[in-house]
Amino acid sequence: MKLYLDTANIEEIREAVRWGVIDGVTTNPSLAAKESESFNEILPAICDLVDGPVSAEVIAMDYEEILKEARILAKVHDNVVVKIPVMPEGLRAVKTLAGEGIKVNVTLIFSANQALLAMKAGAAYVSPFIGRLDDIGHRGVELVRDIVNLIEWHSLKSEVIAASIRHPEHVPAVALAGSHIATLPFKVLKQMFRHPLTDLGIESFISDWKKAGKEL
Ligand code: G3P
Repeated sequence: MKLYLDTANIEEIREAVRWGVIDGVTTNPSLAAKESESFNEILPAICDLVDGPVSAEVIAMDYEEILKEARILAKVHDNVVVKIPVMPEGLRAVKTLAGEGIKVNVTLIFSANQALLAMKAGAAYVSPFIGRLDDIGHRGVELVRDIVNLIEWHSLKSEVIAASIRHPEHVPAVALAGSHIATLPFKVLKQMFRHPLTDLGIESFISDWKKAGKEL
């Protein structure tokens, strides 16, 4: 399973890329709104840092406007994937953009039906929001499993990006549900490294080595 970072913060992306574990980035208008730079500055900077797909979302709700924004975003860099919410005008635009060779990540997916429609329109990626489903008492991970099964049973070409990941346990859960990709907040990526036994192990290795007066 590939790991993307779900952020528009350049410093977080720079650091995660240094760790060598990041395959791409997803952003959304709420994440971009938290940053002081304009999105026009942020998007090319992210594309320079990351060797992989970078999702950038349209704001427009109307077909022609969506196409206009999508084409502008797609021109920024070959790795830009345009993100469009699942809705009729949006899926109409997905079909047109897919025909032009522009990859689209259909976002705000909360049901298998929405995923089916997005994939039918030609979405390269579909993004089920698992944390927000958990918030309302549904099982986000089960939706990921259902969409992956739909892709496999019907030989569809789309990939699943498990999004709205809230805690480290979501990550192996969506991996075991077959998700192709999980997009993580920086905080969750950092939490994935941690285990108290690793900390204790490092501490004792170093103190044993020092006590014995050894050198490398
Ligand atoms: O990738 C989608 C994500 O940014 C939404 O996360 O935590 O706001 O549901 P959250």
